[in-house]
Amino acid sequence: MESSPGCFSYLVGPLLAVVCCGVAGAQDGSLAVPGLKTIRIERNISPTAKGCIECHSTTSPGMVADWADSRHAHSNITCLDCHAAGPADSDISKKHLAWEKTPISPIVSPKDCSRCHPTEAAEFDKSKHARTLEILWQIDPWLKQGLNNAIERATGCDHCHGSVVKAVNGQIDPATWPNVGIGRVNPDGSRGSCSSCHTRHKFSLAEARKPEACGQCHLGPDHPQIEIYNESKHGAIYHAEGHSWNWGAAPGTWSPGVDYRAPTCSTCHMSQVGSVKGSHDVTERLAWETQAPLTIRPSEFKPLPAKTDWKEEREKMKGVCRACHSPAWTNGHFDRFDKAVEHYNETYYKPAKKIMDDLYEKNLLSKDKFLDEKLEVEFYEFWHHEGRRARFGAAMMAPDYAWWHGFYELKKRFMEIESQAEELLRTGKPATVHKVRGADGDTTPPKLP
Ligand code: HEC
Ligand code: HEC
Ligand code: HEC
Ligand code: HEC
Ligand code: HEC
Ligand code: HEC
Ligand code: HEC
Ligand code: HEC
Repeated sequence: MESSPGCFSYLVGPLLAVVCCGVAGAQDGSLAVPGLKTIRIERNISPTAKGCIECHSTTSPGMVADWADSRHAHSNITCLDCHAAGPADSDISKKHLAWEKTPISPIVSPKDCSRCHPTEAAEFDKSKHARTLEILWQIDPWLKQGLNNAIERATGCDHCHGSVVKAVNGQIDPATWPNVGIGRVNPDGSRGSCSSCHTRHKFSLAEARKPEACGQCHLGPDHPQIEIYNESKHGAIYHAEGHSWNWGAAPGTWSPGVDYRAPTCSTCHMSQVGSVKGSHDVTERLAWETQAPLTIRPSEFKPLPAKTDWKEEREKMKGVCRACHSPAWTNGHFDRFDKAVEHYNETYYKPAKKIMDDLYEKNLLSKDKFLDEKLEVEFYEFWHHEGRRARFGAAMMAPDYAWWHGFYELKKRFMEIESQAEELLRTGKPATVHKVRGADGDTTPPKLP
């Protein structure tokens, strides 16, 4: 890479200025404004890389400010390190060549990050997060049966699960990007988006460690993890005093009892805690598939069987708890959680499934399409909404979700399913098949590179 000695300094704070030696500011190249932190960097930055920063601090100052405030800037990682395009890239910005001869591409994929962060990228790549599009197209009725359409998918599913980003000749298809869904498929074939949790251009550890980073997707009637967290004792402590915790501790050193006193999503699912190794694979530490209709082990999940042994993963999760709790407290919690899972499977899911199977067999329900008969919608919400909430509430210490939004609702919905089934059996007339609105979605699975 061409490079020349340069000096470059900027201010971190609400105001930002980028100054190059001899261009403006004080003689030493730094600007001193009272109350603002001045950071001075004197290292080799190539003129090209310096050019990006100079021009962009006028055209898009917000972006440069975020970058300047990041550990990347402090480590001399520039725009060019992430945006430089290879000659074969399909997403080289053509119009940008008018401003700058070095080819750049706007899309920065996990593959680009993997040049410098190979461990995180490899762990993330094997997780369900990165692989979610493969999973969806195997099991999801909305997609497989075209029960919703392109605009409903683009404004909903895609933002959380990710889109297949298409770029032809430097033109990115606006129907597929912007998108930072967790399992986005990039033009270079890599899976996912690191900025789902580390937003650009700060790429902050602190942000990813806070529950809000996960709560943007993990919320709502079918996976209310953020609501569950907020009502747990852990969440209450976070809200009461989290502002004073040390969120920026170096990777691998963020320690319970030292930097924080209650766990966040990241603590339990991702961070290094004592001897429990940190991981970007969120499937680690799980012993159940509690989002599935019938709870199974992660290794039994057909669309993407985990290569884990649930007993080892359970030990890892317990290791996290034991940083702050006794073994008896920890074991007591998991004993109750496992009993709640079995209870859901046996007392609720299996009998309801049997009622449904019976109606299909007697042709009182049609097997043609899912979700076009009232009873199918009831059954879907039974496991997909309240059935999940009961299990998640029990897993993550939220009594209101375990009971009022969970088991209580399961009881009520079970009665509804039962009485609708009785009605069909009594009259012997097949259930009314409704036309699902907006059900013209493409049913061909996308070709994944
Ligand atoms: C002379 C000014 C100038 C220089 C130098 C420059 N850029 Fe830009 N760049 C722009 C402008 C203006 C835009 C916005 C284009 C628009 O508004 O559509 C842009 C857009 C971009 C985009 C988004 C492209 C897209 O297609 O959406 C990226 C990424 C980018 N620049 C990165 C860089 C990098 C990396 C460098 C250094 C190699 C650089 N820029 C150098 C002016 C510049
Ligand atoms: C650590 C890697 C990294 C660095 C360094 C970096 N970027 Fe980015 N940039 C990204 C990522 C990731 C995205 C999100 C694009 C995507 O969706 O793939 C992005 C998006 C962009 C976009 C388009 C998004 C938008 O909001 O319009 C522009 C323009 C851009 N960067 C310019 C810059 C400039 C200018 C610099 C230097 C000041 C810079 N980037 C430094 C990773 C980086
Ligand atoms: C050219 C090398 C390079 C590339 C490409 C790169 N990084 Fe980094 N990254 C670094 C360095 C160096 C550090 C600082 C390490 C340190 O200070 O311990 C860092 C630190 C980080 C951190 C920790 C920040 C903190 O607050 O401590 C995160 C998160 C991160 N990078 C994410 C990304 C993501 C996401 C991408 C791709 C969009 C990316 N990086 C691309 C080199 C790179
Ligand atoms: C608000 C973000 C969000 C939206 C919108 C969203 N999902 Fe999800 N989806 C999630 C999360 C988070 C999970 C993980 C649930 C869990 O494990 O608790 C999930 C799980 C799933 C699963 C189960 C995967 C498995 O491993 O069993 C399927 C299938 C699915 N979503 C399909 C869809 C489809 C299709 C759409 C649009 C019609 C959609 N989702 C919309 C966030 C979202
Ligand atoms: C699901 C959210 C999430 C996604 C997606 C994600 N990260 Fe992270 N990342 C985190 C969290 C949380 C931490 C902090 C872990 C800790 O407490 O040390 C972190 C820490 C890091 C660190 C510093 C940790 C270290 O050991 O050096 C780097 C570097 C990093 N991430 C890079 C990436 C890259 C590259 C990607 C994409 C391949 C990515 N992350 C995707 C949540 C995420
Ligand atoms: C951009 C959206 C998004 C963000 C942000 C996000 N997730 Fe997820 N997460 C998902 C989706 C979608 C799934 C379901 C993937 C599937 O099963 O197909 C999921 C699944 C999971 C799973 C279940 C994995 C399994 O194997 O069953 C865990 C645990 C998880 N996420 C934890 C986290 C944590 C912790 C964070 C924050 C550090 C986070 N997620 C941030 C969208 C997101
Ligand atoms: C005190 C630790 C703890 C905290 C904090 C926590 N979780 Fe969990 N989480 C668990 C445990 C334990 C399970 C059940 C693990 C098992 O399968 O045995 C679980 C299960 C899950 C699942 C279901 C995975 C599946 O497929 O069955 C998701 C998704 C999830 N958590 C996401 C989150 C998110 C997002 C947050 C923050 C809003 C969060 N968790 C906070 C401990 C925690
Ligand atoms: C960083 C420390 C920390 C970690 C890690 C941690 N907890 Fe806690 N937990 C606490 C604190 C502090 C309380 C509040 C205790 C009290 O009520 O005085 C608490 C409370 C609880 C409660 C009581 C809830 C109630 O409503 O009564 C349960 C159950 C619990 N934790 C289980 C767990 C489990 C299981 C794990 C691991 C998956 C875990 N905790 C991880 C610090 C932690």
